[in-house]
Amino acid sequence: MFYDALKGDHGLPHDPINALVSPRPIGWISSLSKSGVRNLAPYSYFNLVAGMPPIVMFGSAFVKDSQRNIEETGEFVCNLATWELREAVNASSAPAPPEVDEFALVGLDGAPSTLVRPPRIKQAVAALECTYLQTIPLPSATAEPHFFSMVLGLVVGVYIDEAVITDGLVDVTRIKPLSRLGYMDFAVVQEVFAMERPSYPRTAVQVAPQPAAT
Ligand SMILES: Cc1cc2nc3c(=O)[nH]c(=O)nc-3n(C[C@H](O)[C@H](O)[C@H](O)COP(=O)(O)O)c2cc1C
Repeated sequence: MFYDALKGDHGLPHDPINALVSPRPIGWISSLSKSGVRNLAPYSYFNLVAGMPPIVMFGSAFVKDSQRNIEETGEFVCNLATWELREAVNASSAPAPPEVDEFALVGLDGAPSTLVRPPRIKQAVAALECTYLQTIPLPSATAEPHFFSMVLGLVVGVYIDEAVITDGLVDVTRIKPLSRLGYMDFAVVQEVFAMERPSYPRTAVQVAPQPAAT
């Protein structure tokens, strides 16, 4: 099948695009309102877009509490969404009004961050402390403005629970990160495999054995 993505004429019961660009990492974003109310929400239009200095982005459909808090206070934290905390991740997506403390709503504790004011989630095994860089309203291909904005943050501090570090490496099989697929589906990373990066031109060792010619 083929469909025109701008018309969305796929003829399927649900838009397939999120299932095709998956798994997506989940930024579980904590922020504070101007008056200090703790806010928490998962964002799967989320990624690390640069390494050094590290920069994260998330895409917000309309201006939600997270985006507004971050623009008003200049700080946020991306907590790691993991298998152990999956119910709380989902629960924190409820459209609670801004005056509701969403840590309390989903039964999580806050722990003080080191460099920013919004707390990290105490139960989360890692957290990226961020300062707000910029909001980019996404350009539209039509006369209608796009309703998504991309929020960029500079990662200024990183918390890691030492229990998930093995031989000096962050052990993803202990973290069990949650990721977002399409529809109502999620996945969990429990297995990893490594591959060496090739050089160019490839050396004989790097070229996989070919089946014998018949
Ligand atoms: C796993 C998951 C991922 C989500 N990703 C996004 C996203 O990338 N962008 C978005 O606007 N909403 C996303 N949502 C919905 C928001 O979490 C939801 O609208 C939430 O109420 C926003 O909270 P806030 O107003 O406190 O920021 C997601 C929901 C779930 C469960």
